[in-house]
Amino acid sequence: MRKLRFGIMASGRGSNAEAILQACREGKLQAEGALVVSNNPDAGVHEVAARFDAASQTIARPDFPDGGSFAETLIGAFRDAGVELILLAGYMRKVPPALLREYRGAVLNIHPALLPRHGGKGMYGIHVHEDVLRERDRETGVTVHYVDEEYDRGPILLQKGGVDVRADDTPEALAERVLELEHRAYPEAVALWMEKHRSIV
Ligand code: GAR
Repeated sequence: MRKLRFGIMASGRGSNAEAILQACREGKLQAEGALVVSNNPDAGVHEVAARFDAASQTIARPDFPDGGSFAETLIGAFRDAGVELILLAGYMRKVPPALLREYRGAVLNIHPALLPRHGGKGMYGIHVHEDVLRERDRETGVTVHYVDEEYDRGPILLQKGGVDVRADDTPEALAERVLELEHRAYPEAVALWMEKHRSIV
């Protein structure tokens, strides 16, 4: 089967991007990272991309006069790279609606909690785990979902729980345990998406 060409959007260190690119390298995913885009030129994800011989670019909204030209540039970059699926991996900005229209059903996000709990505006990174502790949840996990215009509300593709919340947990300790699960769940979700959406052999 021809390899799926995917793009990644990330704002930070890129450990999820790395887990997915590693799964490709090991042949666990019949896919290849065609383009990594970050809003941040200093993000660690650029180094991750370089280690896996994947192209990476910085495309940031403030560098554009308006949202329209920003979206056009993003779409153009992914189209030029032949990207069929876009993976948000710690992308901390709003995805332009025009990109979601262009890639309808083909933009996924990973969220470090069991949505619909602990999702929505302001719920990203460490804040998610702080909220889990504040709410005294006993269990947490990860969710991979389709992205639509509302934060963290698109249909769920894959969800994995089973991370126990301990009485003496800190947000950082919890984040670390959830991250391990993210690194297993995201490649699995990509494989699932390919099964569901690809008919090409
Ligand atoms: C991950 O924990 C991811 O789930 C989270 O940001 C982290 C990025 O880490 N994303 C969100 O909170 C989105 N709402 P990484 O850069 O090492 O992959």
